[in-house]
Amino acid sequence: PVPIVLDCDPGHDDAIALLLAAGDPAVDLLAITTVAGNQTVEKTTLNALRVCTVAGITDVPVAAGCARPLVRAPIVAGDVHGESGLDGPRFGEPRVRAVPEHAVELTRRVLTEHPEPVTLVPTGPLTNIALLLTRYPECASSIREIVLMGGSAGRGNRTPAAEFNILADPEAADIVFRSGLPVTMCGLDVTHQALATDEVVARLAALGTEPARMCVELIAFFADTYRRLWGFPCPPVHDPVAVARVADPSIVRCVDAHVVVELRGEYTRGATVVDLDGFPDRPVNARVAMELDSGRFWDRVIAAVERLGRR
Ligand code: BDR
Ligand code: CA
Repeated sequence: PVPIVLDCDPGHDDAIALLLAAGDPAVDLLAITTVAGNQTVEKTTLNALRVCTVAGITDVPVAAGCARPLVRAPIVAGDVHGESGLDGPRFGEPRVRAVPEHAVELTRRVLTEHPEPVTLVPTGPLTNIALLLTRYPECASSIREIVLMGGSAGRGNRTPAAEFNILADPEAADIVFRSGLPVTMCGLDVTHQALATDEVVARLAALGTEPARMCVELIAFFADTYRRLWGFPCPPVHDPVAVARVADPSIVRCVDAHVVVELRGEYTRGATVVDLDGFPDRPVNARVAMELDSGRFWDRVIAAVERLGRR
């Protein structure tokens, strides 16, 4: 299995990414770190612990990370994920605790101690990752790849030009795309193909386990949000796409491209400018995900949820 650190801001789709990461045998989840994004870092950390409790994930360290972006004022997505960041299901007190270590320190320790290079999978703003690369540049050699959910080669979702994770901390994203590390960007181009259809929900519901029930409730809330705000008939479940790409790269078709983050645009701040035409002065620095095999994607997610329910 591919060793990973999941850096997330749960978040409905982050929660499902977490289940996939913990339940998929092709992935070895070494640590879960949290960041401010969909909600404050206190809330996203509590949510990660809640999800771990429901899914019986008790053997993976969880560490809270950055409370605000590198430069900008924080933005949250309460309109999408609710006041708690994970509105919908009712959670009891989490039985799992966070470790008393900052996310960046935990990630560094995991990278240093693990015998082989580790893949980082960020599904929130890139603040923790940028801070790690800046504070501990020597860690780069222990990173196999960064497979992130964020950005778009087309339009945005938080502004016409920008996707939420990149808009929330564009300077951090800029550091990641300029890092020289292998970066795979799973942006809206591909995550808008990860639609939780009625059939998907029915298959999850049929599992009848606690983690499956939580998924169904998360998707119901997310479906309502996406219908109200953007008129989607069923909701795109973004974040697990990045995990699925790691578990089985053939599920997500990518193209090589040059990607830069717009930091100064009056209307376009946080946009990922993706060169799909191979302009000669723009060397490739990323793989950009364009096409999802949604059938195999959902098979993997559902199998992972089923596996966790049996534990
Ligand atoms: C991204 O933004 C967040 O709201 C989701 O969790 C996802 O990571 C989609 O733009
Ligand atoms: Ca997220």
